[in-house]
Parts: sequence; structure tokens; C-alpha cells
Amino acid sequence: MKYRRLGKTEINVSVVGIGTWQFSGSWGHDFNAKEAADILDTAKDRGINLIDTAAGYGRDHLSERLIGEYMHTQKREDWVIATKFGNYNGQKQYAPDQVLSQLNGSLKALQTDYIDVYQFHSGTNEHFDNDELWTMLDKQVQAGKIRHLGNSIGSPDNMHQAEGSVRNGCGVFQIRYNRIDRQPEETLLPYAAEQDIGVLVRVPLCSGFLTGKYKPGATFGSDDVRNKQEQKRIDRILREVEVIQQNEVPERMNMATWALAWCLNQEAVTAVIPGCKNTQQVLSNAEAADYVNR
Ligand SMILES: NC(=O)c1ccc[n+]([C@@H]2O[C@H](COP(=O)([O-])OP(=O)(O)OC[C@H]3O[C@@H](n4cnc5c(N)ncnc54)[C@H](OP(=O)(O)O)[C@@H]3O)[C@@H](O)[C@H]2O)c1
Repeated sequence: MKYRRLGKTEINVSVVGIGTWQFSGSWGHDFNAKEAADILDTAKDRGINLIDTAAGYGRDHLSERLIGEYMHTQKREDWVIATKFGNYNGQKQYAPDQVLSQLNGSLKALQTDYIDVYQFHSGTNEHFDNDELWTMLDKQVQAGKIRHLGNSIGSPDNMHQAEGSVRNGCGVFQIRYNRIDRQPEETLLPYAAEQDIGVLVRVPLCSGFLTGKYKPGATFGSDDVRNKQEQKRIDRILREVEVIQQNEVPERMNMATWALAWCLNQEAVTAVIPGCKNTQQVLSNAEAADYVNR
């Protein structure tokens, strides 16, 4: 594994982390505590120390609770936990009192007394432009419940929130970025580099499409979030993936590993947080660190 400084937070994170939206059960599989622990144990074995989750992944902190059951067996300082607030139990809940209650719920679910990176979960500018929210969060930083604030920015060009986040003391941006979705290269990534902001890349495999295992026409069950994506869009992406696979991926190289290394070799990116559904995926994702040139 390789490690990088997460921007001005000075936290050292593995370049490959673990995304855990999957633990919510929204990706065609319900996880039990053992399956979640196996994934996290495999990650640890490969040197991964970064976990991304959210209060809103599954009802009542489900993903955080599965992580918490594992954390209970761990030395807390061995892990960097990034979680999120605001998008909770299917509702937009960004008011300061709602967020404070989510924060206390996340600490309990994660079985910890602090969160390393606490991120605004892709809310609107109206939710974001609330001084009382950021004042409340700053108090929680002072109280030691939060080490650093971050923003998981919803759209790839939202400079209003990027600049506001820096003013509000955020040290981390989480953005959607991958070989297909490259818009952040225009403004968000250069701005993050200029401001020394740590960048966590979400959806680095384009929801699994950049693994090369799906072909145009692929469909997903009603219990899989990808079922909600427009079929025309999925097919367009999968056709683009076929061209990328032919022209850019070295022969015999696992395309998922390649796609993650591609992200990590872009300037300003600190770490990728691919969602993993089993230990095999963790292993091939962790291998991306071997192809990283800085
Ligand atoms: N707004 C936000 O803040 C936000 C939004 C989205 C995601 N996130 C975070 O970012 C993380 C990653 O994004 P994501 O999960 O949406 O998309 P992703 O990482 O691009 O894709 C994840 C999916 O790819 C497949 N996969 C993963 N590794 C693989 C491998 N080595 N080989 C083959 N298939 C593999 C798995 O699905 P299958 O095996 O079923 O294909 C997995 O569910 C999430 O878990 C979450 O923590 C945050």
C-alpha cells in the first residue's frame, strides 16, 4: 500500500480506501456483520486504513453500525473514518439540531468517540449556506467529536460550495471522478490543489462499469441502485468502457485495478474509495497502489 497526506488535515491515508454505501443493502445484497468484518479485515491486511461511510447508508446508521461492530475489535487509531451528515433516513436533514443528533448517532453506531472526517453529504447550496450549521460543527470540532470537516460535493463544478467549504474550515473534498466523468479537472481539482485540500474520489469505478465486466444491455435488479439509472445512459457508458478497455488498458491487467490507478495518477487526487462487495474486490482494488507513480 502507499499512503498520502490528506491535504491540510495532515492525516496519512492509504491511497486506496473502502467505500461502504454497499453495506446499506442498496447494491443487490444485504450484508451481515461477518461479511462486513471480512471485507474490513482483508482491507486491513492489505494496508488500507481509510473507510468512507454515511449516517444515511441504510436506515438508522446501518452501514455505520456494521463498521462499528468491527471497530469494537480494533485499535481505533489504526483507522481513518470519514462519514457524512444531512442525507438521513431518506430525507434531507441539514438543520443544525438534526445534524447534531445524526453526529451523536454516528458516534454511537461507529462505537467511537471521534470522527476523523465529517462531511456535508451532497446537499444543495441552500442547505450549505447556513452559518448556524457551520458554527455548530465548529463547536463539535472544539469538543473533540470531529477531527476535520469535509464536503462530499454533489455536482462536479460546484465552486460555490468548494470556496465556501474552505471558508468554513473544511480540509477535505469528496468528489465523483473517474476515467469517464472528468469534469472536476476543469475547476474543482485545480482549486483543491491550490488550497491544499485532501481529495477523496468517490465512484472511481463509475458504479462498477469501469471494471469491464458489464457489456451494453446489462440490467440490474430492483434491489440494486443502478436499476434507477437510465438504460440509455448505462449503454452509452458501457460502449465507452469497451473503447477504453481496448485502447488504454494493458493486456492481462485487471480493468478495475487499472481504473483506480488512473484516478490516483491524476494530480490533486489523494485517495480513491471504491465500494466493495466482497474480499476479492478489496484485493484487486488494493493492487492499484502498485501502479501509482507518486
Ligand atoms: N454523494 C456521496 O457522498 C457519495 C455518492 C456515491 C458514493 N459515495 C461513496 O463512494 C464509494 C464508492 O462509490 P460507489 O460505490 O457508488 O461506486 P464505485 O466504487 O465506482 O463502484 C462500486 C461497485 O463496483 C463493483 N466493484 C468494486 N470493486 C470491483 C472489482 N475489483 N471488480 C469488479 N467489480 C468491482 C461492485 O459492484 P458489483 O460487483 O455489483 O458490480 C461495487 O459495488 C461509496 O461506497 C460511498 O462510500 C459517496
